[in-house]
Amino acid sequence: MRTLHIALLTLALTAACGKGDSPHPVETTGPAPTTNAAPATPATAAPKPETTAEAKPVQHVEIQIATVANTMTFDKTKLTVPAGAEVHLTLKNNATMSTLGHNWVLVKPGSQESVAANGLKLGEPAGYIDVRDKNGLAHTGLAKPGETTDVTFTAPTEPGDYPYICTFPGHYMMMKGVLTVTP
Ligand code: CU
Repeated sequence: MRTLHIALLTLALTAACGKGDSPHPVETTGPAPTTNAAPATPATAAPKPETTAEAKPVQHVEIQIATVANTMTFDKTKLTVPAGAEVHLTLKNNATMSTLGHNWVLVKPGSQESVAANGLKLGEPAGYIDVRDKNGLAHTGLAKPGETTDVTFTAPTEPGDYPYICTFPGHYMMMKGVLTVTP
């Protein structure tokens, strides 16, 4: 008799909750109440558009960056993106001198020199990037003068300042900027 009672109660609760996790009511536990007991939440969880901080939708960020004429500089030396955002970055190489190839490489703080050195070892066929280098966080391909290249990547989840460089031979020391990741 008591078991039946519990079973009925469980069923009633499940129905009240609308979409319980499990379609089968479990007698012993019953439907788990919302774990993050938010105050003043109606029992019938109305399917509202998710605007709360709990389930942040991934933000998409579009970034355009270019190189300045026949110099070893980016036209933007400061970029900002929210942590974990999906970033689509386009690099335009505005050089006209045939010797000026460029790329855009996001690295872990302090690893500019080693990332550039590792890329240099593999040379042009690899776009001056060693993809095995864990200090490299994201990179575009190599853009020849007049060319555009791009990359889509997920921004670091840890807020902070991340350097970006061009790993074309001899460029990284001058050709750089900082991507700030905000919380
Ligand atoms: Cu460059």
